[in-house]
Amino acid sequence: MGFTFQSGLSSLWRILSALYGHRGAVTCLAASASYGVVVSGSADRSGIIWDLHRLTRLARLPAHPACLSAVAVSDSTGDIACCAGTALYIWNISGKPLAKLDSACGSGSTLSCCCFLTVADWDVHGLIATGDTGGHVQVWKLGTASPQRLDGSSDSQESLAKKAGGREEPPLLLRRELERSSAACPWNRPGRAAALTTLAVSRNSSRLLAGDENGRLFCWSMDE
Ligand SMILES: *[C@@H]1O[C@H](CO)[C@@H](O)[C@H](O)[C@H]1NC(C)=O
Ligand SMILES: *[C@@H]1O[C@H](CO)[C@@H](O)[C@H](O)[C@H]1NC(C)=O
Repeated sequence: MGFTFQSGLSSLWRILSALYGHRGAVTCLAASASYGVVVSGSADRSGIIWDLHRLTRLARLPAHPACLSAVAVSDSTGDIACCAGTALYIWNISGKPLAKLDSACGSGSTLSCCCFLTVADWDVHGLIATGDTGGHVQVWKLGTASPQRLDGSSDSQESLAKKAGGREEPPLLLRRELERSSAACPWNRPGRAAALTTLAVSRNSSRLLAGDENGRLFCWSMDE
């Protein structure tokens, strides 16, 4: 039986379908209009890619190591980012693994939010911003598939490639950690940083916004 909800003067919201597939609480949702998909994440550690128009299941992402706390879909590539505990997973629009990072944040912190940034039209994969319970906002870049020697982190990249069965997975490289304790935030007291709760990006990726558990919003300019 359909449920209708009258809101405003002219809009009528009518339920089209209920989508079944998760075996635990749904914890996060993201949609991409340009790819016509919705991605849902769950406490059962799975993610599901749904067709936004047909309301059918397109792919189930393999189990993550922990509950999904956040998902994001890139409007420019269709890549999907999933935050699960301390791990960040990137899948392509077909649900095939592109990259993963086992401990994206410092000790004791778990990832709480993520979003994609599109920096330039020619940029194939763009950037991924993550926020964690330790108060870090980090910006990641999906590297090229061939292992690169960067900052002595080549070992973990090589082991990632081995884990992928010899197939080389592109590494996720830390591009920047965004600062909140600068002169722009004089109210920041030393000590434990407030956990990040949410991230959002403006339409042309010129602004990145983050919210924290103390009720504050931070805004960074992405202009280079
Ligand atoms: C996703 O990845 C798989 C395996 O690498 C590949 O076959 C497929 O074409 C990719 N899908 C898209 C839409 O790029
Ligand atoms: C992004 O949008 C803002 C506000 O509309 C505008 O001022 C800015 O120039 C834009 N930046 C780019 C790189 O297009």
